[in-house]
Amino acid sequence: MSNNNSIHAERRARVAAQLGAGGIAIVPTAPERQRNRDSSFPFRPDSYFSYLTGFTEPNAWLVITGDGQSTLFCAPKDLEREIWDGYRLGPEAAPKALGVDAAHSVDQLDTMLPKLLENRDTVWYPFAIHEGLEGRVAGWLNPVRARVRYGALCPQLQHDLCAVLDEMRLVKDGYEQDVMRRAARISAGAHVRAMKMSARLLRERQDAREFHLEAELLHEFRLGGSQFPAYTSIVAAGPNACVLHYRADTGALRDGELVLIDAGCELDGYASDITRTFPANGRFSGPQRAVYELVLASQEAAVAATRAGARFTDPHDATVKVLAQGLLDLGLLDADKVGGVDDVIDKRAYFQFYMHRTGHWLGMDVHDCGSYVEPSQVGEVSERKDPLSGEIIKNRPSRILQPGMVLTIEPGLYIRPAEGVPAQFHHIGIRIEDDAIVTSAGCELITRGVPVHPDEIEALMRG
Ligand code: GLY
Ligand code: MN
Ligand code: MN
Repeated sequence: MSNNNSIHAERRARVAAQLGAGGIAIVPTAPERQRNRDSSFPFRPDSYFSYLTGFTEPNAWLVITGDGQSTLFCAPKDLEREIWDGYRLGPEAAPKALGVDAAHSVDQLDTMLPKLLENRDTVWYPFAIHEGLEGRVAGWLNPVRARVRYGALCPQLQHDLCAVLDEMRLVKDGYEQDVMRRAARISAGAHVRAMKMSARLLRERQDAREFHLEAELLHEFRLGGSQFPAYTSIVAAGPNACVLHYRADTGALRDGELVLIDAGCELDGYASDITRTFPANGRFSGPQRAVYELVLASQEAAVAATRAGARFTDPHDATVKVLAQGLLDLGLLDADKVGGVDDVIDKRAYFQFYMHRTGHWLGMDVHDCGSYVEPSQVGEVSERKDPLSGEIIKNRPSRILQPGMVLTIEPGLYIRPAEGVPAQFHHIGIRIEDDAIVTSAGCELITRGVPVHPDEIEALMRG
């Protein structure tokens, strides 16, 4: 068994221990998806399945039973198909290669699953993730039910396996943290490359567009060994930065305007997620720098609030406090109309310019799994009235951070023209996003291979 096999075996054992002696878990990998005639989307294995097997072939299933046995179903060896589609591990080689106890051809899934389900009390699988899985489980349970009159037991309980796996995935072990550091390093290098290219294109008065910078990002991701971008890259020039889910398109990079890039690679199944905002030509204007420094100060406050024992919402609250004061100081909010900093927070007046949360879990998925509510306090429900919509919102205490949890810290400000908004700030959109591993004393920012201070960004782009 390789070192990675022992990691996956240990995870399967942890799952088995939570299934109960009569439990059985079923985990498929992701389906292959056709893009159009004879062409498929690149295959990306399911995160839960990868987490438990490390196996990257399509058309595979894992079954774990409460006694700790794991069985893989995978595509059988087939020389003709392998000539067209590539190498298959095959069930004969799988136990040794992957450390599972048994393996069978996926063609035997429908025959063997009823046998594996018989005499268990509980079947676990990921709910509402794989289209049609609920129906397939029902199809496997039917023949078991038919044998009840001969003395067989049929599982009477179905549980969501995500509840078990999400908690496990939320805290990253040393191996996972190391992969995430490497992914972060590649992505930081890609942002550096895009910044330099932007300055060069403008210096040389070449046609400069968002997709030119996207090309730099993708080049550096792949050069670093990344298999995919972790999500569709945002490269937003000028006013496009105020569209939160903008995609890299044909927008022109212009002298005097900013560029916002939100892009990160996926490496060996783990995401990175970085945003930097920089002047297309490498020099911040006065108003751009003023807004940038405010967002950076709010990020520094959030970073200082990120440590084991703090709540997930603490970095967001710290961010909002700094932004609220800064919006008043810059004249983006009028104190005569909205009051002081506490009023700006209580009435959510900052929401006009800052309408998203300050972070999310990061891991195998860019918006990773894991409850944002503290499990030990899930019963402590309080109510509050949203100051903008008037809606009554039910709150539960936010998650207490633990060492090994990984989250993003990504404040921003997005200033669209509106009544009372000074013209010098119109169309400025700034977000700064770093990835943080929670430690007992604070947090480790793993994405600082790309500069974040405005002077350092300008120096890099001059070079
Ligand atoms: N890139 C996705 C996000 O920042 O949440
Ligand atoms: Mn993010
Ligand atoms: Mn992002």
